[in-house]
Amino acid sequence: MEKYMINGGRKLSGKITIQSAKNSVLPIMAGALLTDEQVVIKNCPKIKDVMSMLNILSHIGCKWQFEGDNLIINSLTADKYVVPKELANEMRSSIFMLGALICRFKKAKIYAPGGCNIGLRPIDLHIKSLKKLGVNVSEVQGQIFCSASSLVGKDIYLDFPSVGATENIILASVLAKGKTQIFNSAKEPEIVDLMNYLNSMGAKIYGAGTSTILIEGVDRLHGTEYTPIPDRIECGTFLLATAITGGEIEIHNCNAKNISVLIHKLCDNTCKITTNNDIIYLKNKLMSKSFSFSTGPYPLFPTDLQAQTMALLSVSSGKSVVVENVFEKRFSHVSSLIDMGANISVKGKRAYISGVNRLNGTQVYASDLRGGAALVLAGLNAEGQTIVNNISHIERGYFEFEKKLSSLGADIKKIY
Ligand code: EPZ
Repeated sequence: MEKYMINGGRKLSGKITIQSAKNSVLPIMAGALLTDEQVVIKNCPKIKDVMSMLNILSHIGCKWQFEGDNLIINSLTADKYVVPKELANEMRSSIFMLGALICRFKKAKIYAPGGCNIGLRPIDLHIKSLKKLGVNVSEVQGQIFCSASSLVGKDIYLDFPSVGATENIILASVLAKGKTQIFNSAKEPEIVDLMNYLNSMGAKIYGAGTSTILIEGVDRLHGTEYTPIPDRIECGTFLLATAITGGEIEIHNCNAKNISVLIHKLCDNTCKITTNNDIIYLKNKLMSKSFSFSTGPYPLFPTDLQAQTMALLSVSSGKSVVVENVFEKRFSHVSSLIDMGANISVKGKRAYISGVNRLNGTQVYASDLRGGAALVLAGLNAEGQTIVNNISHIERGYFEFEKKLSSLGADIKKIY
């Protein structure tokens, strides 16, 4: 099993460029099913989740190839509406295929993606919404069967602003008869990105980024060339990696507005941050001031940066409280941080942190994507050597993570 070997204590410094957002690219790839014409997704990261999604698209009958960093997909020959269990289990985002499969084939058969290490991750909101559009849904031993004679636009009220459910409704309704309105929709930048991408294919979607989205069904979609937004979570991860080592960094191809809540908090943490168009500069010193935060749906503090920020707070001066409001099990990184010498106690959805001077290197085990990234950041700070095991979790969302960190001066190697 691959691992990262990190010798901590080096200040990061230098320049990196951010990849296209994983959480945009995945639903955008599903959207390629909605036309028989060629779709080009530019600056596409070759991360494990993208490769897993490509396995699913191949299985369905789509053709694809990379030309450099540009992913070209053609769904003309797509003829299967089934996502087999072994492919659905490779990653949770297979659920995004549901809306696109139903839209194209009026049928879909996928396995419920199941929970993961950050929570149960039910799909009740997805199913309830698809039924509103006229989809018959049944579930037998974890396999979901969907069929619809036709898809008719409806008003859909989401009990929670679920990102995935919002995206599935958009993908299922973009070619439906009539208008669909989503109330209490997710407002993440990745939803706006999906709207812009589909509208570049001829869709008529309005209001993404607000809590009400209107989709006017059209007859067909044409091909497109599209550059997804930069990955705000990768950007935030590198800002935090620099902050935890007391270094300085220049990050290109990023949109500070999409992580303004983190930037605001880091400035409280005494980081010096300036932005200029799509560049963010950060400089920090060690043992900077701590701060508390609570995660929530956009534009609140992103749950996908909670673990990485907790690593920084573990070595910031003073006490802090982290409240995880989005996923019920997203503290799996805490035990490993404690093994490294962090002073953290957890009560329900709250983690109470007292900053220590420095962490100590040891063997730690990644159990999910962002929690694993947090352990790498902790290793960059730690005295001595840290071995991060189970890094396949991390490689789902970060392309050549260790190479980018090494280019900034970190002493990190992938070992087998
Ligand atoms: C997306 O997951 C992201 N994944 C997650 O990023 C991100 O953490 C999450 O949105 C929140 O921002 C992708 O975009 C591929 P949700 P998703 O539906 O769509 C509950 C990462 O690290 N819920 O907004 O699954 C759910 O249990 C990943 O890149 C229901 O109860 O998130 C959770 O508590 C991790 N029923 C909350 O809503 C449903 O039908 C938020 O989930 C759906 C969701």
